[in-house]
Amino acid sequence: MSSFTGNHILSVSQFDRDAIELVFSVAQSMEPYARRQKRTTVLEGAILGNLFFEPSTRTRVSFGTAFNLLGGEVRETTGMANSALAKGESLYDTARVLSGYSDIIAMRHPAAGSVAEFAEGSRVPVLNGGDGANEHPTQALLDLFTIKRELQFNNKTIDGLHIAMIGDLRYGRTVHSLSKLLCLFKNVRFTLISPKELAMPDYILEAIENAGHSLKVTDQLEGNMDADICYQTRIQEERFPSQDEANKYRGKFRLNQSIYTRHFQSKTVIMHPLPRDSRTEANELDNDLNLNPNLAIFRQTDNGVLVRMALFALTLGVENLVSQYEKPVIWYSNKS
Ligand code: CP
Repeated sequence: MSSFTGNHILSVSQFDRDAIELVFSVAQSMEPYARRQKRTTVLEGAILGNLFFEPSTRTRVSFGTAFNLLGGEVRETTGMANSALAKGESLYDTARVLSGYSDIIAMRHPAAGSVAEFAEGSRVPVLNGGDGANEHPTQALLDLFTIKRELQFNNKTIDGLHIAMIGDLRYGRTVHSLSKLLCLFKNVRFTLISPKELAMPDYILEAIENAGHSLKVTDQLEGNMDADICYQTRIQEERFPSQDEANKYRGKFRLNQSIYTRHFQSKTVIMHPLPRDSRTEANELDNDLNLNPNLAIFRQTDNGVLVRMALFALTLGVENLVSQYEKPVIWYSNKS
């Protein structure tokens, strides 16, 4: 990716290591604004079209927050039923119309490939907020940003990382995108733990092997792993043919403090893209881990704002102007 300005962000396949480092460096520079130590109006007058045709809390609100923190305004459309897609309008037409109302668009849709199809009709940059079981590139970038930060505490780097991915690796788009990004690094060890029916798709396994990484695929959480990162996922029930089918796998890979102590190192970082399914029958990441300092899930969500601010600034070509439009914060804030 030679330049971000004016370009869509649809897939992690667009990124090389230089592009990732640029995103991370701009994201880092956004911290004082996200922490309300100062504010910027660099995107004053700009409009984000935030189109979420599938449920979301983090991605939708953090895209909106990131844009607001840069001084821009947000117009939202949520739910298929509330848009003219429900009347048979095509993604192309929707994109032609809404790109006339916005300077940039973030979009989530349940069908794989739909955001790319939408982008073909858009006259402004489109950021993929998740397209079915396919990809979630901004989540992968914030996950990688978090991994880098967490490893720095342990004097480690992403090169040489050992990551255990657990749960629904078939339908979980975040693990697909993250695995593809990790293929750009060196000597990564993947331990993939899932029921056989929910195993990582073959094309991702091939990408991992082609990158020369070490790969272990298993359906059991066993022994004491020397993983640096334990990346837990949710059973993506909305992608299963039926609830009964999803129920077969719910709760298969719970993680609580005692299971964590048995299978992981004392410094293993616990990640999850969220939402975690906290219902008793699933309890995939128990509340008894909430005080574990290695639980990074809420650092991930905070980092999501920084990474999405960086992507907006880069895509709209203002990454070097942010501080020129700085203003003081005059209200009480306890974020810094
Ligand atoms: N991680 C993530 O995509 O969360 P939401 O579904 O809440 O956006």
